[in-house]
Amino acid sequence: MPTGESFYITTPIYYPSDVPHIGHGYTTVAVDALARWHRQAGDDTWMLTGTDEHGQKMMRAAAANGSTPQEWVDKLVSQEWFPLLETLDVANDDFIRTTQPRHEDRVKQFVQAIYDRGYIYAGEFEALYCVGCEEFKTESEIVDGAGAFEGLKVCAIHSKPLELLQEKNYFFKLSEFQDQLLALYRRVPDFIRPESARNEVVSFVKNGLKDLSISRSTFDWGITVPWDESHVIYVWVDALLNYATAVGYGSDPEEFARRWPAYHVVGKDILRFHAVIWPAMLLAAGVEVPRGVFAHGWLLVGGEKMSKSKLTGIAPSEITDVFGSDAYRFYFLSAIAFGQDGSFSWEDLAARYQAELANGFGNLASRTTAMIERYFEGIVPPAAEYTEADLRIQQIVADASTSADAAIERFRIDEAIDAIWTIVDALNGYITENEPWALAKDDAQRGRLGTVLYTAAEGLRALAVLLSPVMPVATEKLWVALGAADALGRLQDQPLREAGTWGILRPGSSVNALAPLFPRVEQSA
Ligand code: ME8
Ligand code: MG
Repeated sequence: MPTGESFYITTPIYYPSDVPHIGHGYTTVAVDALARWHRQAGDDTWMLTGTDEHGQKMMRAAAANGSTPQEWVDKLVSQEWFPLLETLDVANDDFIRTTQPRHEDRVKQFVQAIYDRGYIYAGEFEALYCVGCEEFKTESEIVDGAGAFEGLKVCAIHSKPLELLQEKNYFFKLSEFQDQLLALYRRVPDFIRPESARNEVVSFVKNGLKDLSISRSTFDWGITVPWDESHVIYVWVDALLNYATAVGYGSDPEEFARRWPAYHVVGKDILRFHAVIWPAMLLAAGVEVPRGVFAHGWLLVGGEKMSKSKLTGIAPSEITDVFGSDAYRFYFLSAIAFGQDGSFSWEDLAARYQAELANGFGNLASRTTAMIERYFEGIVPPAAEYTEADLRIQQIVADASTSADAAIERFRIDEAIDAIWTIVDALNGYITENEPWALAKDDAQRGRLGTVLYTAAEGLRALAVLLSPVMPVATEKLWVALGAADALGRLQDQPLREAGTWGILRPGSSVNALAPLFPRVEQSA
């Protein structure tokens, strides 16, 4: 995209009924890496994350823990969900909680607006509800229970029994938006990505849409329906609106115009809410639809979708305590094709950490800085004459930078990292072939030695910039060790789309030998 444009990107707002696991961390670091990339490229970037605090799931979790819903969410959000962002080095611009007045007031305003436009009516209703999903279920989403739930109908996602609800509800005329939605998917072919997600939604909508129950009257943990105090707004309607209320819908038209519309990144479990219900709600209100929805796959543990309710949840800190936040970010963002499911295992994580981070990138950084310290007293040497091998490195750096930016445009962080990794592999091969340690023994090769080490250091400069959205901690250490912070300023101020330009690192900068960026880890399995 042309530099300077608005880039507003969101994570789902998570249920803080429980503690975060690596699935929540996955979405959040993916969005953070995309936001950091665009921010550093000079785009007018805004990253939003937050928590979805109303609904029955939350009420029950609070009751089970002997507290009020508000006490429970306050506790979980401050003790678990805010700290998650630090654990994973996330640089979000805002954090919205749906119990904040800034949200509640504007939700009422929005719902009133679509009511006034005639898209809401009162009706009688009976259906099976999954509290885990906070959603009414249709036949195809219901399966027979097993084990303790033998003989019962359970949710296909949560494997927990459904509850029969019979209430007077308010309904949103979702069925009226079928044609407009299909037209949207045609007009904006990448409105839903990846392709598989798009196809699924298109065929779902083609099958016809049912009106949506958007209020509940049997409990009160929610936002009151403005024209009927005896109902609260359905938690998903409340939750989806966070993306608009957080950037000034209904209160700050200037800010809203600057940020909106957004890109939403979500897990495929909640794709339909984002690609069907949410744009329909916006169309009903006469507000612009999102720029796009990207649905990533599930992290699987032992072949199943990892989840807290199935007790397969792994806390992000279990990984970062051992491997660090950069490794967490790198592993999930590079090892899984963004958009597809991926299996997590400690063995795979440990193997990639060792091969790609410690032996690949980390070793390249340590040996290059160590050789500059040893052979040039820690001063980046100038390049003498470039040979074909050196020019090939320059070309690889330029191509990697261009390909990575193009991959980020497609939200394919994994492909961006693959492209950037061609630099790591090429430089490691280059050093092996050029044997600087042998050149150092021959005074006549002093110029050549300088060229080789300048090439390696300048390649590392490009790597620090290109990898900083994914691994902010290690790249910052590398940046300082290269002496680049003094000569070129802060790493996060280096223009990302120009990272592939050759010759930015200045000869004469002071280099410090780096301690290993990715030290050996002791694993207690
Ligand atoms: O659905 N693999 O919140 P939630 C990958 N509050 N990602 C996973 C995952 C897994 N195994 N498990 C969870 C809600 N996620 C609603 C959202 S938005 C307006 C409201 C991630 O706490 C993934 O992003 O159940 C998924 O969509 C999200 O967490 C669901 O989080
Ligand atoms: Mg969920």
